[in-house]
Amino acid sequence: MKTAKRFFCLEGIDGSGKTTQLDMLAAALEAEGYTVVKFREPGGAKISERIRELLLDPSFKGIMSDKAELLLYNAARAQVIKEVIQPALDAGKIVIADRFAWSTFAYQGYARGLGPEMVQRLTEMTCGDCFPELTVVMDISVERSRARTSKRGEAPDRLEQEKADFFERVRQGYLAAARDYPDCVAAINADRSAEEIQKELLALVKARLA
Ligand code: TMP
Repeated sequence: MKTAKRFFCLEGIDGSGKTTQLDMLAAALEAEGYTVVKFREPGGAKISERIRELLLDPSFKGIMSDKAELLLYNAARAQVIKEVIQPALDAGKIVIADRFAWSTFAYQGYARGLGPEMVQRLTEMTCGDCFPELTVVMDISVERSRARTSKRGEAPDRLEQEKADFFERVRQGYLAAARDYPDCVAAINADRSAEEIQKELLALVKARLA
C-alpha cells in the first residue's frame, strides 16, 4: 500500500480514548505552526455523515448485511477523501483521521470475519494512494474500554451493542496490523494517563514530520 505524507490516523476499540488524544495532538501541532485538518470516520463530509447515520442506527441491528456494512464504510470514505482529505494534503496541510481503513480491516475483516483480502481489495479501490503514512492504535483491554464507554451514559449505537468477543477480535485485528505493517502502523499502550499517551503519540508523529 502506498501512503500519503502528512496523513495520520488514530485507531482503537470504542472507549480507547483516541478522540481525546486526537484533539490533544491537533492542538500540539497547531501550536507549532502546522495547519491541521481533522475529521472522524465514518463522517467528515455531509454525504459521509448521512452514511454514518445509516451505519450506526441501532434499529438495523441483525438486518444490515456484513457486505452492505463493508461497502457503506467504503462509500463514506470515498466521499471524505474527495472532499476533505485530498484537497487538504494537496494544500500541504496535516490531516488526522479519527479512524480510517484499519478500522475496516479490524471490524469488518477480523471481527465480522469477511477476511483481510476482501477488505484490502476494496481499500485499494477506495483509497488509491490516499492512505495514512502512520496509524497509531490506542491499545487497551476490552474490559477497560467497556468500563469507560458505560460511564458515558449514552445509548449504545449498532456497533457498540456488539458483545465483548467481537471487540476482542477487533483488538486482535489491530494488533495483527501493527505486527504485519510496522512501517505504517504502531500500537501503543492506552491504559495510561492522557499526558503519558500524548507524549508518545506526539513523538511518533513528529518523527514522520522531521
Ligand atoms: P466512532 O464511534 O469511533 O466514531 O466509530 C463508529 C463505529 O464504526 C465504531 O464502532 C467503529 C465502526 N467502524 C467500523 O466498523 N468500520 C469502519 O471502517 C469504521 C471507520 C468504523
